[in-house]
Amino acid sequence: MRLPLSLLVVFAMTTLATAQSKPAGPAVKDEPFGTAPEIPNPADKAKPIRPESKITAYTLVNKSGAWVKILTLGGIIAELHVPDRDGKLGDVVLGFDSIDGYLKDSPYFGCITGRVANRIANGKFTLDGKEYAVPVNNGKNSLHGGTAGFDKMVWKADASLSAHGPTLKLTYTSPDGSQGYPGELSCVVQYTWTDANELRIDYSATTNKATVVNLTNHSYFNLGGHASGTVLDHELTLAADKYTPTDDSLIPIGKIEPVAGTPLDFTKPAKIGARIKQIKADPVGYDHNFVHGDKNTAEPKLCATVTEPKSGRVMEVRTTEPGVQLYTGNFLDGKVKGKGGAVYPQYGAICLETQHFPDSPNQPTFPSITLKPGDEYRTTTIYKFGTAK
Ligand code: BGC
Repeated sequence: MRLPLSLLVVFAMTTLATAQSKPAGPAVKDEPFGTAPEIPNPADKAKPIRPESKITAYTLVNKSGAWVKILTLGGIIAELHVPDRDGKLGDVVLGFDSIDGYLKDSPYFGCITGRVANRIANGKFTLDGKEYAVPVNNGKNSLHGGTAGFDKMVWKADASLSAHGPTLKLTYTSPDGSQGYPGELSCVVQYTWTDANELRIDYSATTNKATVVNLTNHSYFNLGGHASGTVLDHELTLAADKYTPTDDSLIPIGKIEPVAGTPLDFTKPAKIGARIKQIKADPVGYDHNFVHGDKNTAEPKLCATVTEPKSGRVMEVRTTEPGVQLYTGNFLDGKVKGKGGAVYPQYGAICLETQHFPDSPNQPTFPSITLKPGDEYRTTTIYKFGTAK
């Protein structure tokens, strides 16, 4: 079923009017969320990297009244309200109340990261014998697509009600050479908020020249509620028995090693805080790529389960990707002012960024992230929310 947006808006306005507590769905609503200023293009003044743009927030409400708010800026998941064991909705992602926070202070809260998620060593890689340079924005490395990655781009949005639940289709075409990456890359990221409280993200992309691509979503989850302190009490299980060890700058050293006998072993459920202080890193915490496969699977497979004991909320992550970055908000320091004035402390969230492995373009032994003209990049990740007793 597909309804015109105007109809959906009327439907949504009546259902959301009684709002925050428990809106009835399914419904889709859109509202203005401020303006993103121009990002100038030093190489061509007439073609800014991002023209000044009005940002829209889309709210997708499913049949049960659980809801998600997504921005056209960076495809950011700004709010995600799911029930606890008593059926009470709570917002389980970190974020900001207004666009200013996302423009100024955001450590990639909720966004689509790309063209290449995570790090590329020294901001350089070689493809088909040609060397490419991408922006160095994290020590000596390039992080999450560069200084103006997909998190800062404004995506075209098309909302509708599908048979599976409300959906938001986001499209963005990244020009050839943008942030140093070759090829014009046409991307589609489709969010579906199903009636089973699954946030399904289907990514696809095509290119007109050989390039590299590795997209993910960078949501910071706290299942106790975004303002409930640290996630050290959350219990985590990962389907991965291997990981990619890194150097001090978080670039893989090229090996894939077993987690057994290390604080990274989450093959059986363990509290995030139980062994976190054993990690040798500065700042201390989990910031590791876990390996549960060596190529994409046809269907999304369970890679992570997170349980929060007080609320009883459970999140299951399924993906077609072979890896997942576990990041525990080690760099959060209570300085950014989050939604409702919330203070987000170190370890205030867990990110499970499904992906190919970091620095893949420079790592011949890792599964390739090269995309050729005529081929299609396709990947799916599902975050499913439920409760335990
Ligand atoms: C990286 C972290 C980084 C965080 C926020 C994660 O994907 O692995 O090192 O601090 O993103 O940018």
